[in-house]
Amino acid sequence: MQIVYHESNKTFHLYNDAVSYIMMVLKNGHLAQLYFGKRIRDREDFSCFLEIIDRPMTACVYEEEKAFSLEHIRQEYPVFGTTDFRHPAVGILQENGSRIMDFQYKFHKIQNGKPGLFGLPATYVEDEGEAKTLTLTLEDAVTGICLELLYTIFAGGGIVARSARLTNGGSCPVRLERAMSLCLDLPDHDYVWMQLSGCWARERHVYNRRLEPGVVSIGSMRGHSSHEHNPFLALKRPCTDERQGEVIGISLIYSGNFQIQAEVDAHDTLRVLAGIDPETFSWKLDCGESFQTPEAVLVYTDQGLNAMSQTFHRLYQKRLARGYWRDRTRPVLLNNWEATYFDFTEERLVEIARKAMECGVELFVLDDGWFGKRDSDYAGLGDWTANRERLPGGISGIASRIEELGLKFGLWFEPEMVNEDSDFYRSHPDWILSAPGRRASRGRHQYVLDFSRKEVVDAIYAQMVEILGNAKVSYVKWDMNRSITECFSNGWPADRQGEVFHRYILGVYDLYERLTSEFPQVLFESCASGGGRFDPGLLYYAPQGWTSDDTDAVERLKIQYGTSFCYPVSSMGAHVSVVPNHQAFRNTPLHTRANVAFFGAFGYELDLNKLTDEEIREVKEQIAFMKKYREVLQFGTFYRLKSPFEGNETAWMAVSGDRKTALVGFYRVLNSVNGPYTRLRLMGLDPDCLYRNLLSGTCHYGDELMYAGLITSDDTAGQTPADTLHSTDFESRIYVLEAEGGDWGLSDPFPSKSSRVN
Ligand code: DGJ
Repeated sequence: MQIVYHESNKTFHLYNDAVSYIMMVLKNGHLAQLYFGKRIRDREDFSCFLEIIDRPMTACVYEEEKAFSLEHIRQEYPVFGTTDFRHPAVGILQENGSRIMDFQYKFHKIQNGKPGLFGLPATYVEDEGEAKTLTLTLEDAVTGICLELLYTIFAGGGIVARSARLTNGGSCPVRLERAMSLCLDLPDHDYVWMQLSGCWARERHVYNRRLEPGVVSIGSMRGHSSHEHNPFLALKRPCTDERQGEVIGISLIYSGNFQIQAEVDAHDTLRVLAGIDPETFSWKLDCGESFQTPEAVLVYTDQGLNAMSQTFHRLYQKRLARGYWRDRTRPVLLNNWEATYFDFTEERLVEIARKAMECGVELFVLDDGWFGKRDSDYAGLGDWTANRERLPGGISGIASRIEELGLKFGLWFEPEMVNEDSDFYRSHPDWILSAPGRRASRGRHQYVLDFSRKEVVDAIYAQMVEILGNAKVSYVKWDMNRSITECFSNGWPADRQGEVFHRYILGVYDLYERLTSEFPQVLFESCASGGGRFDPGLLYYAPQGWTSDDTDAVERLKIQYGTSFCYPVSSMGAHVSVVPNHQAFRNTPLHTRANVAFFGAFGYELDLNKLTDEEIREVKEQIAFMKKYREVLQFGTFYRLKSPFEGNETAWMAVSGDRKTALVGFYRVLNSVNGPYTRLRLMGLDPDCLYRNLLSGTCHYGDELMYAGLITSDDTAGQTPADTLHSTDFESRIYVLEAEGGDWGLSDPFPSKSSRVN
């Protein structure tokens, strides 16, 4: 990896084995984007990529040079109003009412490693040799505002991380109306825009569209990254698929309001912007103050979507997530939410936990309802002390009982919220976000605490530390169950109200930082009514998140498949729940529920006491299977093979680092009578290695399995009575492939359901 500066042409070339990112200083001092894509050899002069064409009807920067118009130049961090008419990266309102800015290059610095971003989550390095960072410093002479653009290129993978920092070095305060994390101007628009969108219980479904002239954007104005749109975008060439082709992935490391936008201009060039949502952002920058944008990560590959995802997975697993749990497989947990909702006593919980322990579960999680007057969702949020009627020994009491059973104990919090019916609210009614003299809207009967104020965060921190410091709590589920409305803070003056959305998220990050530092061995799982804040910002603090409140296995295929485009399997909380399912009211087989959840941070969300002996036997096998293979499932290389968005079947697989073990998940939603022949062309295997298929006992070389394919046809589907056990809707199986000489001890993980297959 290298960052080269060619003084003669004022050109910067960042490159590694996979990518090149090239830009140059223009004659007006602005920065032009010349190239981002597959690695090209370094040269002194790349200025031909500028393509300055003299076009009619153009407003130009220099009277004598009509072709030099910013409208027609691809730029790094453009401003509006000085001959560029596209959406800008930055907008600054000055004291005299002007919004015109002119950032000109001053100097740059190239350093080994990567500096942290104060108060914000970001990718990091453990060794200075892992990355290099270029900081370009520009200045607007009239206002004295300084702009620093940070670019980090990592040694491995086609990754460039970007952010911007603005400092008011002038003598008047200004107002930032927009400060995006990145602008990427590309020379053509021949891309398919792929977004991950949905809503509660239907998060991160895949949507594709061709780009045409005009603007396309996704974002959130809800105060959290949202169920509706994920801060991720893939721009893929029309011919790109999972196995091959060019794609640029863009991911924003941020948990609040965001915008990702593509603008195709009249000459078919493409501008992509990503950053904090400008509509809900307005930041007063006093003299001497700085504003740091969140980080955006760009990934380029010409090896297809799986390669893009694997690059994100590795980066986010190893150099975004941190701490004790980063590299550790996750405990098999049981969460009591769908088992009891608010209806539990300590004895009932212990009964559930005891059965869980007998089955091999490692962590029992007590969800909502343990605190204050929390008998329903009308009361209690904000009072983080145990309800002694339900838990006579308090949290330390139940935690000790659970530990005595041989399980770890985990606890649910919703730190950012308060119910009107709570002592916390009665003591501090002015600590919620609400506009003076106006009604404060509720969501799930609760208000949002004003996390833009340090004293509010401090008060919640104190309560949480009291619980976590005095009981054996090994895991925290951090929930957030409503969007932000009436975003006004009593703690900030009128001219700083536009900062509250962002300051709120900084408050969330601050509390996460304090708690994860104070309790480094506690495993944090983020949650926001399921997947309402499943974003890279929170992965920095919590290495896993509750993927969705929808636990139905069929629904989960799409949710987990979509999520996998950016996020690693180890980050996706995935549980087996009861049937009929509580969200979709669907009956799926127990093995299919597990076969989907295996590709995640695995657990159960039910009372195992209510299962039959036969089902308990199956659950024990599932847990033994997960423990045996979780290193591969959660930390192996993940490949999508068949999309649930394109047909009746879904398939994905995980391959161990040494390629000696692979697990293939195959799912068929609806049964078909006398169905087609089906094969899966596997990926990531060692072509020369002989693998034993533990379902069939047959052996195949990696090249056979990858090029001829793994046969998944059901030879008797729907045709003979003998097949009825397996020939059903919602059927699935896991193919375990072990390299010859590997450990074949567990030869038939689910004999009752799948032994006949291949
Ligand atoms: C929403 C979460 O997503 C659920 O798993 C559960 O924790 C409930 N909140 C509890 O209120």
